[in-house]
Amino acid sequence: MKIPKLRIGNLIAEIPIIQGGMGVRVSLSPLAAAVANQGGIGTISSIGLGDIKASANEYVRTAREALANEIRKARSLTNGHLAVNFMGVLTNINDLIRVSVQEGIKMIVFGAGLPTKLPVLVPDPSVSLVPIVSCARAAKIILRMWDRRYGRITDGFILEGPLAGGHLGFSVEQLKHPEDYSLEKLLPEVLEVIKPFEDKYGKKIPVITAGGIYDGKDIARMLSLGASGVQMGTRFVCTEECSVSQEFKQAYLDVKKEDIIITKSPVGMPGRAINNRFLKDLEIKGKMKISCPYKCLTVCKADTSKYCIALALLNSYFGDLDHGLIFCGQNAYRVNKIYTVKELIKLLLDELKEA
Ligand SMILES: Cc1cc2nc3c(=O)[nH]c(=O)nc-3n(C[C@H](O)[C@H](O)[C@H](O)COP(=O)(O)O)c2cc1C
Repeated sequence: MKIPKLRIGNLIAEIPIIQGGMGVRVSLSPLAAAVANQGGIGTISSIGLGDIKASANEYVRTAREALANEIRKARSLTNGHLAVNFMGVLTNINDLIRVSVQEGIKMIVFGAGLPTKLPVLVPDPSVSLVPIVSCARAAKIILRMWDRRYGRITDGFILEGPLAGGHLGFSVEQLKHPEDYSLEKLLPEVLEVIKPFEDKYGKKIPVITAGGIYDGKDIARMLSLGASGVQMGTRFVCTEECSVSQEFKQAYLDVKKEDIIITKSPVGMPGRAINNRFLKDLEIKGKMKISCPYKCLTVCKADTSKYCIALALLNSYFGDLDHGLIFCGQNAYRVNKIYTVKELIKLLLDELKEA
């Protein structure tokens, strides 16, 4: 079987695999570059890179410099395809998108919010704009809005289903019945709503599925259903190139299925995480003390938010898991080995060919 390439706008990846953006500091330059070197698309997460103890102005400046630095480091490691991931709820999102484009990034992935102004911020058609959606309705709203306002459409969509790690575009109630929102159900609906826009603009809008995709067999199934590629997060956490602490990776290796839970995050969305000491303490205390010298999320309120998610994710990154939130996908309990990115991608492609 010939492995299909993944085309998103002008960008053509040799293999149909995107390593998903993972904040805070989970997907940095070593991981993204390693994936790009294997022919996939490596995504740097723009989230939580600044000095979160600094003043507001300093935070914005350090975040911008850290992201520029991360992009340059990745570029020094690969000539392959790199993307940067953004969350719509970041207060400094425009600044971060601008610096990414200045640093030569050719693919912008936008989640956790509607990308209403993205085409204005990034008018250069050589930069692919790829929103993350969790249903056909959201894809249609974005396409209709961009078509009417800007006379352009997206270069692709990431369709993230309910089994993904991190923040999820579903309600807690919906997440109790993930089978009702499976990628197998969502994908045909998305393919249908994008069709009139593909016809109007005479170009394909690739849909990349994400969430719970674990092995080559899963990839084969997604491709056979009409996905142009897949985005994977959880599997890439347990790679040597992933920047998180050893303790973070060990938590994935140790976790049992029943300890992977849905938790409400201060971002206002549910998220999937490991039920560790931090979340259990939070359950008892109800609220942690927050001292926030700035506001990194538009939706966060220091006096009412239960905890500072930037700090909690940063603690896990550094290995202080008792005070840290550990995001993971529903399949994290299946991970039992740390691979190099090269080994992992070879394994996935071998399984894909076999399937
Ligand atoms: C630790 C972790 C952090 C994540 N952080 C983000 C993020 O900051 N922004 C985002 O759009 N997606 C985030 N995701 C989602 C991934 O990019 C990816 O779409 C998802 O994990 C795919 O599902 P999988 O983990 O089952 O492969 C995160 C996922 C994980 C596991």
